[in-house]
Amino acid sequence: MIPLDLFDSLLPTTAVVREPIAPGAALLRAFAHGMDAALLQAIEAVTAQAPLRHMQTPGGFTMSVATTSCGALGWVSDVRGYRYAAHDPISGVAWPTMPACFLDLAQRAAQEAGYAGFAPESCLINTYAPGAKLSLHQDKDEKDLAAPIVSVSLGLPAVFLFGSATRKDRPRRLRLVHGDVVVWGGPSRLAFHGVMPLADGHHPLLGRRRINLTFRSPRLRPAP
Ligand code: SIN
Ligand code: FE2
Repeated sequence: MIPLDLFDSLLPTTAVVREPIAPGAALLRAFAHGMDAALLQAIEAVTAQAPLRHMQTPGGFTMSVATTSCGALGWVSDVRGYRYAAHDPISGVAWPTMPACFLDLAQRAAQEAGYAGFAPESCLINTYAPGAKLSLHQDKDEKDLAAPIVSVSLGLPAVFLFGSATRKDRPRRLRLVHGDVVVWGGPSRLAFHGVMPLADGHHPLLGRRRINLTFRSPRLRPAP
């Protein structure tokens, strides 16, 4: 029998497939593929410390997506609004440290999409069960709009909507599967985006779930 690692080294190294979506935005197909086991282990460790929860929106709704965070800052929502906080409001302690494999993936993906030097301070972990969705929105709670957003898909496939900075334009529909990474910044930084209700299914690693990791750098950094 051929040892697995030897077999791996015989496979051709495939180039990253970078699909432009809009100016400043790209889809990196399967970019996280070889890292999925490490990512899932790290997600388990983070959620053991800072559990997934369904946050309240300022409008009084409960989000269908369950979320938590790691890194110096976590994105939180409640009746007072959306914001970044250094502490998990459930435990009152700092969010778990960003795992090294998260940081590595986010930085390499940003670089591949043309954003060298991305230093994510925050990773929002979004978990979707069948039927969960995210309405069209802009990510605009960050002070530093120069930093891009890196968004990693794991588990069940989803239909991702990606529009322009105005709600009037009809968003594109992109099918995202396990391992796909979307990066947007620059002229697309304030693009409206969202996720259609998750179709039921079964993923070999994640079962009836989709997990999204969204990396952002909310704090204003002094110009170099
Ligand atoms: C988000 O916009 O925060 C998440 C997007 C996704 O789940 O793909
Ligand atoms: Fe978003």
